[in-house]
Amino acid sequence: GKVCLAYSGGLDTSCILKYLIEEGYEVVCFMADVGQEEDFEAAREKALKCGALKCEIVDIRREFIEELCFPAIACNAVYENVYLLGTSLARPVIARAQIAVAQREGCFAVSHGCTGKGNDQVRFELAFYALQPNIKVIAPWRDPVFYERFAGRNDLLAYAAEKGIPVTSTKSKPWSMDENLAHCSYELTQDPLSAPDQPEDFTIYFEKGIPVKLEFTENGQKKSVTDSVDVFLTANAIARRNGVGRIDIVENRFIGIKSRGCYETPGLTCLRAAHIDLEGLVMDREVRALRDSFVTFNYSKLLYNGMYFSPEREFLESSITASQKSVNGQVRCRAYKGSVSVLGRSSETEKLYDMTESSMDEIGDFSPAETTGFINVSAIRLKKYGQMKAAAGEK
Ligand code: ARG
Ligand code: SIN
Repeated sequence: GKVCLAYSGGLDTSCILKYLIEEGYEVVCFMADVGQEEDFEAAREKALKCGALKCEIVDIRREFIEELCFPAIACNAVYENVYLLGTSLARPVIARAQIAVAQREGCFAVSHGCTGKGNDQVRFELAFYALQPNIKVIAPWRDPVFYERFAGRNDLLAYAAEKGIPVTSTKSKPWSMDENLAHCSYELTQDPLSAPDQPEDFTIYFEKGIPVKLEFTENGQKKSVTDSVDVFLTANAIARRNGVGRIDIVENRFIGIKSRGCYETPGLTCLRAAHIDLEGLVMDREVRALRDSFVTFNYSKLLYNGMYFSPEREFLESSITASQKSVNGQVRCRAYKGSVSVLGRSSETEKLYDMTESSMDEIGDFSPAETTGFINVSAIRLKKYGQMKAAAGEK
């Protein structure tokens, strides 16, 4: 039968490709373009050389940005306080595109090169099963026949040599890499220490919590982009040359292992920071508190754990949309030596903030005497609690 293999052109998936063919399968390779820097044509040639029936390359950058990155920005998604979910965000669209190729090509199974210890295997396979419940999954790294034969990297290299699989040496970079428009797990951004001495300013416009325009300066000229992919590419370029968005963390994987990662999320870091700032100006306090205490945590967690094609994701996404009705306006930002800061924000449509209302010398719609009553009533419960503790001799 036919199998659709998620192929990267690297050592592991090239060996898996050969191995599947040896096992008697016909293999259609699949590559997703999510904005990674990749020589797709070279990878396609390699797949065909290794015996693939064909190699399908699918550009899913726009759906990745619009369906995944935008909701993530709109709810300020973050995992364990620091990880902006760059890898997790790409998995649902990659899995969906792979299933579409598998269906088109009449494949009974899909295959991937994820290790048996990571999050990615969980994310991909949960998505496959949600999208096509009867699909078969071939995960060589969890098959004893495969992993006992290829116990280490040297076994893969020996197999590649024996089968004539070209190997581009990666001895100095033995870690797993993953890259897309939002994120990358190796160094591409400028080291903040050697970033330009001049700060770079830009303005992000939001409509309903979605970035719809980015204004910036290039060679002294004011420019702007409005296409969703261009907004990301431009934000990435600015943030990258100023060293914004690098982290080095230890995180908890879904399966319970702690793992260390170095990630770069340049553009998304800026877009998220600007979005959080604008919400301060235009969003209702209680909507914001409910969203922060429930939606953001759960949406981030389900993305991390690979539960995208689920009823809870649809439920949370509709509350993200509802929470963003008023998030319209613009934020002026500055990227400088590893960080992004906000210079100012404004909104034409939302008028919740009134400078005189909170100022010390203007009286608004209420008198200072009325606030006395507000404090007295708010204190009823606290006074009782204080009396009780005093009576019990507690501090
Ligand atoms: N640990 C992060 C995550 O689980 C990033 C993983 C990078 N993935 C990879 N195959 N290298 O989302
Ligand atoms: C992997 O899944 O193989 C890479 C690490 C991770 O995503 O947890």
